[in-house]
Formats: sequence, C-alpha cells, structure tokens
Amino acid sequence: MDRLHTVILPVAGLGTRMLPATKVTPKELLPVYDTPLLQFAIDEALAAGARRIILISHPDKPALAEYFEPNDDLERKLADANKADLLDAVRASRLPDGVELSVVMQEEQLGLGHAVLCAAENAEDGPVGVLLPDDLILGAPCLAEMTEAYDPSAMRSLVAAQEVPHQHVSRYGIFDCDDTGAGTVLPAARFVEKPSVQEAPSRLAAVGRYIIDQAIFDVLRNTGRGAGGEIQLTDAIAQLGGIHAFRFSGERHDCGNRDGLVDATLAVQRLRKQVNLRVAAE
Ligand code: G1P
Repeated sequence: MDRLHTVILPVAGLGTRMLPATKVTPKELLPVYDTPLLQFAIDEALAAGARRIILISHPDKPALAEYFEPNDDLERKLADANKADLLDAVRASRLPDGVELSVVMQEEQLGLGHAVLCAAENAEDGPVGVLLPDDLILGAPCLAEMTEAYDPSAMRSLVAAQEVPHQHVSRYGIFDCDDTGAGTVLPAARFVEKPSVQEAPSRLAAVGRYIIDQAIFDVLRNTGRGAGGEIQLTDAIAQLGGIHAFRFSGERHDCGNRDGLVDATLAVQRLRKQVNLRVAAE
C-alpha cells in the first residue's frame, strides 16, 4: 500500500502507572530525552503518509490538543533570539498543510477496542492505522514499514510483533502462527489477548502498531467484553480474520512504565550524540 490515510492515536489513559509525574502532565507529553512521546507518534504517523490523525483523548487531558496549537509569542521570541534549532523543534508540533487533526473524547475507559471504535465517524475510507504512543519504536519508522508491507487484497490486519519472554505473555496480545521462519509477514490462525503462560499459543506478542481493514468498526460495534472486562481490539481483529503479524526492524521501548521510559531516554540520548558527532565531522 502507498500510504495510510488515517492514523488513530488512543491517548485517553490516565497514566496511573506514572503518577505523580502524570498528575497534571499527560503521559504522552513526558519527554523522552528532548521530545515528548506524542511528537514521536506524530512523526511516525506522518512518515506513513497520514493525512488524518485522530486523537482519542480524555477531558482531563486538555494539554494534548493544546500541544498542536501554535504559540506565536514563543516563536517570535525564539526567532528574535536567533534560536533556529529551538524554533524548528517548536514548529514540529504544527501539522503540515493537508494533514487534519480530530480530537474525540473517550469519556469511559472501556478498553482499546472501544477507543478505536470512538474514531469510526472521523476515519477516511480504506484501512486505518492505530499507533499506541507508549510503545516507542526507534530506528526505521515502524508504521511506514508496515504500510509498505500491507496488501489490502490479501490481509485484513497487519500487527507489529516481537518475541517476548515466556513469563510476559499475559501482558500482550499473542499470535498463533508459525514464527520459526525468517519472513517479516506471518499469517496467524488466532490472536489471543493476554493469555496465561499455559494457554499462550506462542511467544510472539503484539506491540502498539496496527493496520486494519475499515470493517473493524462494524466488528467492534458488536465485540463484547473480553480479557480484564474490557472491549479488546485483539478480539475484534481475531473475529475479522485475515490476521497477520509483522516483524519490524526498529527497537521497541515500553514507555508506559518508569524503567522503560528511562531506557528509551538513554537510547534517544545515544542517537542524538551520534547525530551530533556526524554533524561535527562534516
Ligand atoms: C495493548 C493491547 C495488547 C498489546 C499491547 C502492546 O495492551 O491490548 O494486545 O499487546 O497493547 O503494548 P495494553 O498494554 O494496553 O494493556
């Protein structure tokens, strides 16, 4: 597929695992070294060709929508002080011309499937992308890699996947597929949300990047509550059929917990230093 028109960012979660840092600041605006998680997510969506970005937010997190509003005063001050780098960094939060942002409120936390369903009215025709900003993927932009690999005539979903330790399977959606080969796109017979270690069909786990056929919205309207009493996206994808896992090439960091955020921060610091060294050598 050439480009992914719609990308949904579920960001309504209240970030309780990161309190007190998230008491006032949404977790998506916490910095990973020098850049908020939300900006990484936006950059990745744009790299996949998104022209409509849908934030599924919560009324207690107004700062998320505010992040995209221009701050003319600040920009003028930075321009007057000749701080071009900072000015560029601040302007990165403006969406390019032709890219539309919609913000939909998810008043009740009924699960990831419910969050995606909240985007139904705002999505453009065609397959939709879902990107969970907590799962930071550094290196090659994951959603763009997936867009290239997604074949709408042969698949109904493509979900980023990585092997996780056996004892962690109950934290993830787990694929039932033959993951012994070297392929990057793996058809899956089943997709199970947060199975027990005993029931898990493999160690291949979903991470937060999805491309899904538009028909997912109809399925989600009738998806009952699953694991944890929530409406699970995994269950709807399984019901839709045509499930595919995608082995991405980047490096994933789970920024939904403190240690993951620290690891990601150190990884981004390393990347920035490499770039600075390269620039200095030129
Ligand atoms: C969600 C999905 C799960 C997936 C995970 C990836 O779970 O429901 O299938 O493996 O994201 O991060 P959550 O972490 O929101 O509980």
